This record gives sequence, C-alpha cells and structure tokens, in this order.
Amino acid sequence: MESTSLYAHADLYDAVFGRVEPAEVDFLAGLLAGATHGGRRVLSLGCGTGRLEAALAARGVRWVGLDLSPAMLRVARRRDPAGHAVAARMESMPFAGAEFAGALAGLLSFSYVVGGQARRDTVRRLGDLLLPEAPVILEVPMAWRPRALQGVSERLEGAAGFEFRYLDLASEDDAGAVLHTRLRVWSEGRTAERYAPLTVFTPGGIRELLTREGLFANVQFFAPWESASATDTPPPDCLRAVVVARRTA
Ligand SMILES: C[S@@+](CC[C@H](N)C(=O)[O-])C[C@H]1O[C@@H](n2cnc3c(N)ncnc32)[C@H](O)[C@@H]1O
Repeated sequence: MESTSLYAHADLYDAVFGRVEPAEVDFLAGLLAGATHGGRRVLSLGCGTGRLEAALAARGVRWVGLDLSPAMLRVARRRDPAGHAVAARMESMPFAGAEFAGALAGLLSFSYVVGGQARRDTVRRLGDLLLPEAPVILEVPMAWRPRALQGVSERLEGAAGFEFRYLDLASEDDAGAVLHTRLRVWSEGRTAERYAPLTVFTPGGIRELLTREGLFANVQFFAPWESASATDTPPPDCLRAVVVARRTA
C-alpha cells in the first residue's frame, strides 16, 4: 500500500474523519447561538476539511476557517462554498480587529501549536480577534500527567479506519507536555500517515494559558460533547476535553 503525508490527501482523511456526530453540532451550535446573531462570524482554527463548519452553517452559523493545508481547504470550500477558508497558520492569523463572535478548534487542531511562546502569542492574538463575551472552544488532549500517555493509542478497525498513537516525550512545560504522535489512516486500500508533535495540556496548564493576561475567563471543561458535563476541573481519568472560555469584556 502507498503511504503518503496525511493532510495532503484530504479525501482519505475525510473518508475516516469527515463525519460529524449530532451531539458535537448540538454542543457547538448551542454555545454559538447567542453570539452569532446578526450574521457575526465564527473563526475556526485548523478547520481541516470543514466538516464541523459545514454542519454549523446548516444551522445558520457563518464561518471563517484557517488551515495550513491547501488540500484540506479545497475540501472545506467544496463542502460549504458560502464559508471563507483561508490558507494560514494559527500562529499568524491574517485578520485585523475584534470581529469574530466565537472561535473553535475541533479534533485537537489547537494542539498543533507547540512551544510556550507560540501558544501564548496565538492566545493573545485570538483575544484581539474576538468580541467581548465570545466563546473560545478548544477540543484538546488533556491529562493530569501527560507524560503517562506515551504508548497510549486509539484505533478504529475496519475497511476505513485509523490508529493514533502517542510516541515519546518531546518536551514538558507549564502548559503540559509535547508528545510525538503518529496518525495512520486507511481506506479502500490506500493509507496515509503523519508524524507530528502535539501538545497535551494539563487542566491547570490550559487554564493558566487562557487566563494569564486577563483576555479570557470562565474556563470550563466538558466531556466531548456533553453539554451537561461542565466542570471547573476535569476528572482525573480524562484524556480529552472540550475547554470553553469567554473573551472578557
Ligand atoms: C486533526 S485535523 C482537524 C481538522 C478539523 N478541525 C476537524 O475537526 O475535523 C488538524 C488540522 O490542523 C491543521 N493544522 C496543523 N497545524 C496547523 C497550524 N500550525 N496552523 C493551521 N492549521 C494547522 C492540519 O492541516 C489539519 O487540517
């Protein structure tokens, strides 16, 4: 089987990850409903193939997505031609002014920003781009002891499936740890994979990251994607959380 770089083969990525769970859309639409009245737009970081954005658009949410992969963006544009999909890195968002009614980073996208300075700069920039009270919604890997994730894997068997594995530790800092990861996907006899360092946050690390400059407040942790599960601190056995905070007024 051919092995290729995953995000250059967006159709293959999409064959495995392109679905959206109704609970996911309900959760996001519920949080964004109040903020997006009057046609205000939501910014999606690492929007990928636009699966969430298209589902939100069907609920009346207007979106701007950014992603560094042209192939992923092509699928996003095809999926929802009304959306605005921009080729850019999260670390250097090409927008000006506080114009967005919310920000979203689904399926671990925000964890691709590695390094303390890059993370802090990205959060500061996000603060500049969001309207007061706008929610920021980050689905991130999270563990009380991130280094314990080394060797942990998640696998979906089948003709179309994937294996995601945390490999060795790259570095640790006050937000958590960076672990090397390998994601391999396959569908219809093709396979693609990607090695990437990903940030795994501790609960205290991401809270501190979001609140340190007073840009965000009201940090809550949710089990994906359960609206009723909001807590100020995630449970000790969590491995992934949806973190929601609000831009301060
Ligand atoms: C796991 S996918 C998630 C896609 C989408 N958010 C979803 O929920 O399906 C991660 C995406 O982040 C993008 N990405 C990775 N690093 C990035 C960066 N530094 N800036 C912008 N996009 C990035 C990848 O190209 C990929 O499309």
